[in-house]
Amino acid sequence: MAFRSVASSDSLAEGQGIEVISDGNIIAVFRHGGLLYALDGVCMHQGGPLAKGKLCDGKVQCPWHGWTYDLQTGDNATTCQAMLRTYRVREEGGKIEVDLGD
Ligand code: FES
Repeated sequence: MAFRSVASSDSLAEGQGIEVISDGNIIAVFRHGGLLYALDGVCMHQGGPLAKGKLCDGKVQCPWHGWTYDLQTGDNATTCQAMLRTYRVREEGGKIEVDLGD
């Protein structure tokens, strides 16, 4: 477990996403339905910026061509195939922290 601070809590409003880079990982962090989610920030189709995607019903839709991913699992919402790495995320002391793993 290696939680790293990636942003201030104030920088992420409900219904929004931000892109952060930590240890070379491009990560999209979202606040949706009162919860935080973190997953790979680069779309598996052609590299679209998922942090700029539209959020709906626990999913994010890529802004470029519409591929949609489950925020919790990173699965492609159409095929249910595992696609994107997800990360544990938490808030501590006004900071958003992402667990980059071992
Ligand atoms: S780059 Fe994301 S759907 Fe095409």
